[in-house]
Amino acid sequence: MNIEFLKNREALHQEDVVVVPLFEEYIEKGFTPYLKMLTRSKKGSIKKVVSVREFTGKKDSTIQFDYEDKDGMIKTIVLYGLGKQDDFDYTLLQCRAAEITQNLIKLPFKSLALNLPWGNKVDDLKTAVKKLFLGISLVTYRFNRYKTEAPKENVSEIKLFVDGLQELLGDKTYKKYIKELATCADTVYHVRDLVNDPPNVLTPEVFKDTILNRLKKRKGVTVNVFDYDMIKKMGFNLIEAVGRASNEKPYLVEIKYKSSKKNVPTLALVGKGVTYDAGGYSLKPGPFLENMHIDMHGAGTMYGVMDLITHHKLDFNVNCYLILAENLISGDAYKVMDVIKSYSGKTVEIFNTDAEGRLLLADAIAFAGERGAQVIIETATLTGAIITALGNHIAGMMTESDALASSFKTAADEVEEKYWRMPLDPTYKERLKSDVADLRNIGSAHIADSIVAGLFLNEFKKKDVKFMHLDMAGTGILKEPYSFYTRGGSGFGVQAISHYILKGDIPFN
Ligand code: BES
Ligand code: ZN
Ligand code: ZN
Repeated sequence: MNIEFLKNREALHQEDVVVVPLFEEYIEKGFTPYLKMLTRSKKGSIKKVVSVREFTGKKDSTIQFDYEDKDGMIKTIVLYGLGKQDDFDYTLLQCRAAEITQNLIKLPFKSLALNLPWGNKVDDLKTAVKKLFLGISLVTYRFNRYKTEAPKENVSEIKLFVDGLQELLGDKTYKKYIKELATCADTVYHVRDLVNDPPNVLTPEVFKDTILNRLKKRKGVTVNVFDYDMIKKMGFNLIEAVGRASNEKPYLVEIKYKSSKKNVPTLALVGKGVTYDAGGYSLKPGPFLENMHIDMHGAGTMYGVMDLITHHKLDFNVNCYLILAENLISGDAYKVMDVIKSYSGKTVEIFNTDAEGRLLLADAIAFAGERGAQVIIETATLTGAIITALGNHIAGMMTESDALASSFKTAADEVEEKYWRMPLDPTYKERLKSDVADLRNIGSAHIADSIVAGLFLNEFKKKDVKFMHLDMAGTGILKEPYSFYTRGGSGFGVQAISHYILKGDIPFN
């Protein structure tokens, strides 16, 4: 969807179709400045239309009418009811904007201009506008790359004018802000494209090149790529074991953002980037192979986060580790019962080659700690069990640190992404005991799979490091769209994690 901001209220007059969302109270009090302007200049008596057609502004009700402007052009006004202002939940504005947009894009027009009267009740107009913009742009994302002919949709362009924003920010800041919003949507689009790309297209190598192309010249950023030879040489034996069977060999990508401030703490981000998970010798049954190209969602998310945050100045360093690999079968694939010495030195007995994500992540978490991080946030599409527990709208969050959990949850709520904390209960560590090695890679029974996976990862962080694991197996890919998330790769996580970092609320001490 093409979305742009109109320069001023007058520009609305040039548009053929203008949509004006209205609270019930606005009908009584006299509309928006734009509608008042129209009424004053006798371009149809809107008040009369509203009264004759009995439009009260009830939630999701619409009326639409045409008028002839002074140049003899036929223009259309669509009034969209938002219900009572007191019932409107501003904390879910992005979700609401997405729902409204879903209704609007079905209208039989090519281009719509929206006059958004958020005025008086919003204390933070900037945030409100961000939510409106992201709600509209994220819900209109489509993945049509591989269709010879893209399905036709009515509306292909939306123009926005938000009452009061330009006055509030001033011209220069306004322009900068609008650009920032577009960048944010563009990153989520980019991440969704990557997640949706089929596994024959997005291989570890192509993913690695995509990252390099976008970030290698970014100011303050360095990208280091460890290829298969380096992975072997450096002792990333778990990564090596998982990635070995495929002809498309694994990569470990390190993206470093260095703050211009000296002696500052470091946050590390880690993402699982399995571009296809067939399960290895613990082969997934047919139906479970579906959608396993999304198993790189974690790496896609963290890459998106790096893409967004490196446009800003931060008071701490951020290192990001993405493990890109395929989990397949071949003559030299790793096997159930293999014992492998991890990068950290701990040995792991393999009981299930389909629990490959935690192996890749274990080596990356140990490396992140070695490179000097006080806090590590990791995300992965790690366990089917998290889908059973929390479904597709809520991601699992696991950490021993209350400070990390609560500060992250607050930030995530602000951008309307849902996370639920699961306990990293130490009694379940028993389940990871192996007869021959330090750890088994899965629990001794299929219970509490998500927590056991979290406990496994927790074993690879250094003692004083705060670690948080986010399981996005349910939220990363969607069979059904909801809120501002579209079907397929959702881009879930990009907003919450980047917002959290930009807020600067991370408990380093
Ligand atoms: N990539 C899967 C997890 C997954 C499942 C992601 C469904 C998205 C949708 C992961 O590698 C996996 O196979 N996990 C196993 C772990 C088990 C063997 C302990 C699982 O959840 O079945
Ligand atoms: Zn797997
Ligand atoms: Zn996997």
